[in-house]
Amino acid sequence: MKFPFLTAKTKDFPGSEFERSNCPRRDNEGQAIVPIRSVGGKRIEAAEGTLHRGSLDAGALIECRELAHVYHTRLGEEIAAVRDITLSIDAGEFVCLLGPSGCGKTTLLNMVAGFLAPSAGKLRLNGDDIRCPAPDRGVVFQDYSLFPWLTVEANIAYGLLMAGVSAKRRKAAATELLELVGLPHIGAQYPFELSGGMKQRVAIARALATDPAVLLMDEPFAALDAMTRESLQRQLLDIWARTRKTVLFVTHNIGEAIFLASRVIVLSARPGRIVEDIRLPENFRPRKRTSPEFNRLYERLAKAIGVEGTE
Ligand SMILES: Nc1ncnc2c1ncn2[C@@H]1O[C@H](COP(=O)(O)OP(=O)(O)OP(=O)(O)O)[C@@H](O)[C@H]1O
Ligand SMILES: [Mg+2]
Repeated sequence: MKFPFLTAKTKDFPGSEFERSNCPRRDNEGQAIVPIRSVGGKRIEAAEGTLHRGSLDAGALIECRELAHVYHTRLGEEIAAVRDITLSIDAGEFVCLLGPSGCGKTTLLNMVAGFLAPSAGKLRLNGDDIRCPAPDRGVVFQDYSLFPWLTVEANIAYGLLMAGVSAKRRKAAATELLELVGLPHIGAQYPFELSGGMKQRVAIARALATDPAVLLMDEPFAALDAMTRESLQRQLLDIWARTRKTVLFVTHNIGEAIFLASRVIVLSARPGRIVEDIRLPENFRPRKRTSPEFNRLYERLAKAIGVEGTE
């Protein structure tokens, strides 16, 4: 059987805004990496031997300087989505990006992912300009984005397959990651056989498979019911504690941001600018949603995004 995704040509997909020839050819340890192929308009690069477990050196990992993005619509309109974003994120931080609908959260995340080019300003990961998507950034989307024609194991190992990693190592990695997300023994199942919460846990496992420096998550739990959402929030914190990945997590849910983050960044209405940047004390964990401290933060953040006490 031939899988359409594996045989598709780059020209079959809408391209990203990047000149693909601009893509860096070094991994986050500075080693030369081999371009494997282009899929979905994005170049996927990695090579066996460049994968590493564990976190990066301390220090600013992501740096934005006066970053802006303007969309140009088909009707010739200019839409300024974000502007003047100046921000440093250290390795190991769990940063929640909070703001009202349409304020540019996804736009900012997509620039860090390399799906969108900045219109102005600087954006760096580990000192290198971000020019295109790469395996050093794992992305989890809101909608279930697993490949329906692949088993859970093949979904998780997809990035490793693209990187030319051997079948034995791919299987071992998928098994380890399924354990990490609390879903051992489902590797042979297909996405349609899973609940929404299970699909998102598999998506997290897939995003972690190339051992990225950063995990980018765009409202990954928004489509889930409240109970499943809270359970996945707890599991994500557990995964973060075990992997110490740097996480950039987009949400417009204030309670979710306070429960998860080591730092909450609030964007104003469009064009999104940073209006609050709050570091939450690590000794304030586990965070009880009914505690006075939680409620104080809730009020402050609600005021900052202009929704005063409601969510
Ligand atoms: N491709 C596009 N072309 C034109 N305008 C766009 C495009 N994508 C987003 N926008 C506009 O840019 C602004 C920011 O969009 P973005 O998706 O980043 O917001 P958001 O904060 O993620 O919103 P939400 O919370 O609803 O997901 C919005 O006003 C949106 O309409
Ligand atoms: Mg969005």
